[in-house]
Order: sequence, then C-alpha cells, then structure tokens
Amino acid sequence: MPKLLRSVRILLALLPITFAAPAPAPAPSPIVSAAPHPMITPRASLADRTTSKLEDRDILSSLEGLGGFLTSAIGSFPDYVASGVPNFFQDFPTGTAVQKSLGISDNELAATPTQVLNIPAYANWTDQGWNLRFRGNVYKQPNISESKLDQLADIFLVGTSIKDLPPPQQSQARNLTAEIFVVQQGNVNVSFNIEPAAKQGSDGTGTGSNAVTPGGGSQNITLVGQTTVEGDFDQFVPLANISGPGGYLLPGNGTQKLQRLNVYANGTDTGNATSFLVPEEGLTIISDIDDILRVTRIYQPADGLLNSFAKAFTPWMNMPEIYANWSQSIPDFHFHYLTTTPEQVTRNYMDFIYKTYPGGSFDTRPLNFSDVSATLSIRKFLLTKIFQTYPKRKFVLMADTSNSDVMKDYPGMATDFPGQVKCIFLRNTSATDSGDKFPYNTSGFKGLDNSTYMFFTVPDDLKGLDIVNGQCVNTTIKQNITFSEQGLPFGLSKKSAAGRVRSKLRVVALVGWSTLVYAMIL
Ligand SMILES: *[C@@H]1O[C@H](CO)[C@@H](O)[C@H](O)[C@H]1NC(C)=O
Ligand SMILES: *[C@@H]1O[C@H](CO)[C@@H](O)[C@H](O)[C@H]1NC(C)=O
Ligand SMILES: *[C@@H]1O[C@H](CO)[C@@H](O)[C@H](O)[C@H]1NC(C)=O
Ligand SMILES: *[C@@H]1O[C@H](CO)[C@@H](O)[C@H](O)[C@H]1NC(C)=O
Ligand SMILES: *[C@@H]1O[C@H](CO)[C@@H](O)[C@H](O)[C@H]1NC(C)=O
Ligand SMILES: *[C@@H]1O[C@H](CO)[C@@H](O)[C@H](O)[C@H]1NC(C)=O
Ligand SMILES: *[C@@H]1O[C@H](CO)[C@@H](O)[C@H](O)[C@H]1NC(C)=O
Ligand SMILES: *[C@@H]1O[C@H](CO)[C@@H](O)[C@H](O)[C@H]1NC(C)=O
Ligand SMILES: *[C@@H]1O[C@H](CO)[C@@H](O)[C@H](O)[C@H]1NC(C)=O
Ligand SMILES: *[C@@H]1O[C@H](CO)[C@@H](O)[C@H](O)[C@H]1NC(C)=O
Ligand SMILES: *[C@@H]1O[C@H](CO)[C@@H](O)[C@H](O)[C@H]1NC(C)=O
Ligand SMILES: *[C@@H]1O[C@H](CO)[C@@H](O)[C@H](O)[C@H]1NC(C)=O
Repeated sequence: MPKLLRSVRILLALLPITFAAPAPAPAPSPIVSAAPHPMITPRASLADRTTSKLEDRDILSSLEGLGGFLTSAIGSFPDYVASGVPNFFQDFPTGTAVQKSLGISDNELAATPTQVLNIPAYANWTDQGWNLRFRGNVYKQPNISESKLDQLADIFLVGTSIKDLPPPQQSQARNLTAEIFVVQQGNVNVSFNIEPAAKQGSDGTGTGSNAVTPGGGSQNITLVGQTTVEGDFDQFVPLANISGPGGYLLPGNGTQKLQRLNVYANGTDTGNATSFLVPEEGLTIISDIDDILRVTRIYQPADGLLNSFAKAFTPWMNMPEIYANWSQSIPDFHFHYLTTTPEQVTRNYMDFIYKTYPGGSFDTRPLNFSDVSATLSIRKFLLTKIFQTYPKRKFVLMADTSNSDVMKDYPGMATDFPGQVKCIFLRNTSATDSGDKFPYNTSGFKGLDNSTYMFFTVPDDLKGLDIVNGQCVNTTIKQNITFSEQGLPFGLSKKSAAGRVRSKLRVVALVGWSTLVYAMIL
C-alpha cells in the first residue's frame, strides 16, 4: 500500500500536465454511434470503451536519463509505467468500487439521498420544434468522515498536506475530494420539470446571459431509457410548445434571441440548471476555462495541483471585464463553456464561472471517456457535437496554448466546418509565464486565413476588436507563428530536443484523471 500510494503521488504529479500533452497519432474515433430511435435526434450513446493499447511503447525507452524540468516535478517513474502502461483506462471504477474502497454498506448508501448533476445545456431548432439536450450524472454522496477525507485529499496534494494549508484551502480540498468520491447510480430513470427562467442562477457579474424569458414552455420531461453504468445521461428530447401566462416559446428561426429555461431534476433540489434555447443563426463563443478564464498554471505541476485542489478559483487578469463587455455589446451572444475537466468537478467550475463571467451553457468530460484514445479526443468530440447542433451559427473559439488538443482541434474545426469559425483566440502562456516550459505546436494553423485567428498575451489585446464584423486580429500584437513546434524552454529549438520533450509529454498524456481515481481506490 505505501508503495502504491507513492506511485499514486507520482501519477498525481503528472496530472495537471496531462492537459498540456500532445496527443498521439489519431486513434479510432470514440464518437457517437447513432442508435436508431424514434426521437428527433438519436440519443447520444458513447461508444463502448475499447481496449486501450499503449500507443508508443518505444517512448518509454526515451525516459531514461530524463534530466531537467520534468524529473524535478515527478521524481522517478513507477515500475509499472516503465514496464508499459497497464490497462487502467478500461477498468474505470464504477460507483460500487468507490463504495467498497470507503467501506460503506449498501444500507448506509441507500439512506443517503440521490443527487443529480444537471449540466446547463442548449437546445436547437428543428422541423419538430425545440430539441433540448439533457446532460449530467446521477450519484450519491457517501458520508465520509473528515479524517478519511483528509487522508484522501492528501493524495492530491503533492509536497504538502492538508494539515499545512490555511482553513479556506482545507475546505476547498475537502470539497473537491468529496466530489470525486461519489457513488454513481447506473440504471435509474431521470425526469425533469421545466419552467421559463427569469435569470440564470445568480446571473454572475450582473451582465447575465443576454437571453430572454420565454412566455411559456412549462412541462415535465422523462428521459428515454436509464442512466449509463457510470450514472451519466446525455440525450436530446423535443420540447412541447406549451403556453404559459406570458405566451409561448419563440421559434428558433424567427428570432436571434436566446431563451432561458430552468430545468429541475425531479426528486432532488441538487439538480437545478438553466438551459438555453439557441436560435439557428447567431454567434456562439466556445470558451475553455483553465488558464484563460482562471489561473490554473496547469503547466507547473505543484502549482497546478494546489490551484486545482485547494486554492479558490481566481480569474485570470481582467478577462471578466472582456467577457462582460462582449456580453453587453454583442447582441444575442451565446456563451458556451467547454472544458475537458472531469465531470465530477463540474459544480466547482460552474460556481466560479457563474459568479465571474456571463451565464451560458456548459460541457465537461463525461465519465465514459476513460480509455486512452477517448481521453485524448474528448475536446474534439465535444466541439463536433456543438458544431453539428448548429450548422448555421458562427463560432468564436477561445483557449490558451498549453492545451495540445486545442492547438489541433480549434483550427481543425475551421477545416471540418467551413465558414463556421469566425475567430480563434489563443493566449500564449509560454510568452507570458516563464513557468510554462512546454512547447506548443502551431502547425495546425498552416493554411488557415491569418485574419481569423490571433495569439495574444494579455486580455487587453482583445479590447476593441469588432468580432461581429470578423475583426479577429489586433495588428499591434506581434504573432511570431512558425507553423511548427515552438516555445521550447531554455532556447532549445533543435528537432531532437523537441522530440524528446514530446516523448516525455506523451507518457504524461497516458496518465489522466481516470487513472488517478482508479489508482486511489486500488
Ligand atoms: C420556421 O421553422 C418552422 C419549423 O421548422 C417552419 O415550419 C417555418 O416555415 C419556418 N419559418 C421560417 C420563416 O423559415
Ligand atoms: C455522517 O457520519 C457522522 C459520523 O461519522 C455522523 O455524525 C453524521 O451525522 C453523518 N451525517 C449524515 C448526513 O448522515
Ligand atoms: C423506470 O422507467 C421504466 C419505464 O421507462 C419503468 O418500467 C420502471 O418501472 C421505472 N423504474 C423506476 C424505479 O421507477
Ligand atoms: C410536473 O410534475 C410535478 C410533480 O412532479 C407537478 O407538480 C407539476 O405540476 C408538473 N408540471 C407540469 C407542467 O405538468
Ligand atoms: C408556439 O405556438 C404559438 C401559437 O401557435 C406560435 O405563435 C409559436 O410560434 C409557437 N412556438 C414554437 C416554438 O413552436
Ligand atoms: C417526480 O418524483 C416524484 C417522487 O419524488 C414522483 O411521484 C413523480 O411521479 C415524479 N414525476 C415525474 C414526472 O417523473
Ligand atoms: C432548486 O430549485 C428549487 C425550486 O426553485 C429550490 O427550492 C431549491 O432550493 C433549488 N436548489 C438549490 C440548491 O438552489
Ligand atoms: C463543493 O463546492 C461547490 C461550490 O463550489 C458546491 O456546489 C458543492 O455542492 C460542494 N460539494 C460538496 C461535496 O460539498
Ligand atoms: C439539432 O441537433 C442535433 C444534435 O446535435 C443534430 O443531430 C441535428 O442535426 C440538429 N438539427 C438541426 C436542424 O440543425
Ligand atoms: C497574413 O498573411 C499575409 C500573406 O498571406 C502576410 O502578408 C501577413 O503579414 C500575415 N499577417 C500576419 C498578422 O501574420
Ligand atoms: C512575439 O514575440 C515577442 C518578442 O519575443 C513577444 O514580446 C510577444 O509577446 C510575442 N507575441 C505573442 C503573441 O506571443
Ligand atoms: C490591441 O492591443 C493593445 C495592447 O494590449 C490594446 O491597448 C488595444 O486596445 C487593443 N485593441 C486594438 C483594437 O488595438
């Protein structure tokens, strides 16, 4: 056990940079296999998890003599990684495994209330009317003693212990740990009560979501089928055009206005969300969160861990001002927050976003995405889904350069969905944070019209751009794009050096959140 714990610590040290790691060669697509279904849209069914294979066994040999910045962060690699990554990812723990590891009896668990994570979603307009996505997870929160929680939280905190943290950080660490140790409820029915919404939650900064309250639309919806083994649900269901005191739902082709609906999960008060009816045409911003809307420093392992698990979420510079301004000045701008952070911590991300940024819909990583290839292609899956939902809308894409999947998938959207990507904005974290030693690869942008994307360093660089009319570039910001790997530390630029760094990162990429939880309950 102690050895294992140590290994886990090492794995955890790798965790934050997972997101920064380059993706390996394209793997078979894990995307939806659309089952025929008498609904407007087939319900999303994530493909079965495939056997995970180590993508690049040979990369492990390049780990020998790992000098430099990575080793200082991660120490030595655990034996079982060095001998080939085991099949962590296909045995993702189910709720029962978490339950067993915590020694909680069925009776105890049965006595705890069922909760629903209801992720604020979007609806599209179809021949049959509005088609609303329902997406989330059903789970129970076991009653874990504080001492046990502290013990579990300590596993997340490399180089420190919960005892050594100031009280607010202690409670944040306990909160996150508790969120990860939930027992998901598979095979349950889920239903919702829908009502017009006057606002979204507290409506954050007061800029709110620039949406309107529909006159009607109150109804009860029962999802088709039951939750997956992991407790997830994700499907589109048509809404009826029910009249209310203020009239009806507005059709999605006669208006550009967003309409807000409250979606309450039946039987619990934990599953409240505000979803959006988003018209056929208009402008949507798809925004990542870590290191663009909040300070995470995912590329600095120890710091990234503390920022992710203990410290209160902090906005990055004056980004809230930029978003508030866009929300006010761009008519009917739809905000969609898309992060590959695991579903279990969605509540914390939502809580921060809705207090700090304009209201909007949300996407996080569903639990099914736990094998290697799927973990690395989740962003593409989520992006493709929203683009397919709105074939006539235009999109603004926002993130930072420390995500290798972003560097491929954002320009990829411009190629896959011609004419739909209006602007791509990327914060260059390497240029402004000497702590970011990871290279980033701009080759995905080769061939794209350079008036449609901009790399920037501070939020002010985005000020005054007329996005609606396609002004994506602030000409005062020097771009420095080489269409290759750039931003290597210590002035390294040789191909071999780049190759070595990439190899190291690729190993890191194999070790994700799913491993983390899996390893913890072993
Ligand atoms: C709006 O959509 C509905 C349903 O698809 C269709 O019947 C109607 O003709 C459309 N109206 C316009 C103005 O396109
Ligand atoms: C959780 O367990 C503690 C004892 O470990 C008990 O005092 C407390 O009442 C329990 N809480 C709930 C909500 O069951
Ligand atoms: C779930 O719904 C199905 C019908 O879709 C029904 O047969 C079953 O009894 C329901 N289960 C529960 C526990 O309500
Ligand atoms: C939805 O169901 C609840 C009971 O679960 C009921 O109180 C409410 O009136 C129903 N709403 C509609 C619009 O049918
Ligand atoms: C709902 O019905 C009303 C009255 O027939 C109509 O004016 C409105 O366009 C309809 N809205 C939708 C979303 O179908
Ligand atoms: C909502 O849940 C209650 C019990 O909590 C149940 O009686 C009711 O039928 C449910 N409503 C729907 C629409 O499933
Ligand atoms: C969810 O909404 C219901 C109905 O408005 C409310 O009673 C409940 O307090 C809300 N739950 C939370 C956690 O805000
Ligand atoms: C953790 O905090 C979030 C808000 O940041 C809250 O929504 C959630 O209920 C908390 N979870 C637990 C298990 O206390
Ligand atoms: C609505 O969204 C669904 C789900 O993404 C998609 O399959 C469908 O084509 C969309 N419908 C229209 C009319 O865009
Ligand atoms: C965009 O590309 C054109 C040539 O196609 C070049 O002249 C111009 O300098 C480029 N702009 C930027 C900002 O790199
Ligand atoms: C481009 O390079 C210059 C000089 O190193 C630097 O000041 C600037 O911030 C870089 N621009 C971006 C967008 O990274
Ligand atoms: C461009 O960037 C500079 C420097 O951050 C900023 O002062 C300016 O407002 C930005 N916008 C435009 C349109 O120049």
